[in-house]
Amino acid sequence: MAFKNKILVTGGLGYIGSHTVISLIENGYDPIIVDNMCNSKIEALNRIEKISGVRPNTYIADVRDEEKMEQIFKENKIDAVIHFAGLKAVGESVQKPKLYYDNNIGSTEVLLKKMKEHGVKNIVFSSSATVYGNPKKVPIVESDPIGEVTNPYADTKVQIEYILQALAKQDPSLGIAILRYFNPIGAHPSGLIGEDPRGIPNNLMPYVTQVAVGKLPELNVFGNDYPTRDGTCIRDYIHVCDLARGHVLTLKKLEQGPGLVIYNLGTSVGTTVLELVNAFMKANNITIPYKIAPRRAGDIPECYANCDKAYKEIGFKTQYNIVDCCRDSWNWQKKNPNGLN
Ligand code: NAD
Ligand code: UFG
Repeated sequence: MAFKNKILVTGGLGYIGSHTVISLIENGYDPIIVDNMCNSKIEALNRIEKISGVRPNTYIADVRDEEKMEQIFKENKIDAVIHFAGLKAVGESVQKPKLYYDNNIGSTEVLLKKMKEHGVKNIVFSSSATVYGNPKKVPIVESDPIGEVTNPYADTKVQIEYILQALAKQDPSLGIAILRYFNPIGAHPSGLIGEDPRGIPNNLMPYVTQVAVGKLPELNVFGNDYPTRDGTCIRDYIHVCDLARGHVLTLKKLEQGPGLVIYNLGTSVGTTVLELVNAFMKANNITIPYKIAPRRAGDIPECYANCDKAYKEIGFKTQYNIVDCCRDSWNWQKKNPNGLN
């Protein structure tokens, strides 16, 4: 049965959340947002409205705030939750593990409690390829082992997956989807929303676009002595709009009935750091100065998905390639050199 009521989107003003809110609106859903703005700006909401013509009902609140969450569930009839809210910086999680456990696991616990109290049965959870740790083989399939991870951020994702899997066993009336994202990049083709990291970016694509726009002098390529075709690490870069659409397809799957599903959301294509930098330069006709720097601690040589399961079960197939990603990332950055202000 199709969801007729609202979809609660936690972290809906963030990078993936804002793109997913657009996809939800385009597909006839009624998203409502809860976000504490610890890593987002209210301008994201204005941009969502500009793109979609709809200004979703938005609560500026922490998902760990039980009273506020009670109010949200009382005021809105909710069919399903998409749970993006969380902290995601691997390095910071090593420095401040408690913050990560409190925020990521604490918010999930409150959310699940309120869902139970209000009879909301369906949840889509933002997990990550990081749960696979250093994979023994690529491409990675969903049945590959998870849990051997090396930082608190990844561990929060593993723990939440375990909680959700236990709940699914205990209560077969629940609809639970765990989505393991690979490396989201790109931006909405309008250039109105995109990734807006605070401070110096940790991730490759925002670093590249900030070099392109002149905010940073050059890219450090972390290591060129990995056992890969050009010595740099391989990742599976997926356009954020493809990822957003994956959430709509997942909701449609949950509409068919309860159960637990786990999907890799990637492109099934591995790209090296240097291939991505070269694709960016070619797509946008810009030179990115770079130098080879030492390896970054904790990086794994190769990580890319086998996405056959998501294709077979929900029809998930990417529409954007790496060139589209590079074009849209740059379009976003050059139109918003200082991000969302
Ligand atoms: P993001 O930081 O842009 O979005 C997360 C949003 O959640 C932010 O707007 C933030 O303000 C909000 N938030 C955080 N804690 C909150 C809380 N306790 N209560 C209310 N709001 C809160 O990150 P993103 O890239 O959009 O990632 C979304 C989700 O996907 C995260 O759970 C992340 O771990 C996961 N993920 C991201 C990536 C990636 O590379 N971007 C990869 C795999 C998984
Ligand atoms: N890299 C550089 N220079 C930079 C930044 C990154 O060479 O300035 C390299 C990294 O060494 C790595 C590749 O680019 O080889 C990708 O790095 P990212 O930081 O963009 O992405 P990761 O694969 O390390 O991690 C990301 C998210 C994690 C998530 C993981 C899997 O940051 O939170 O994808 O989903 F868990």
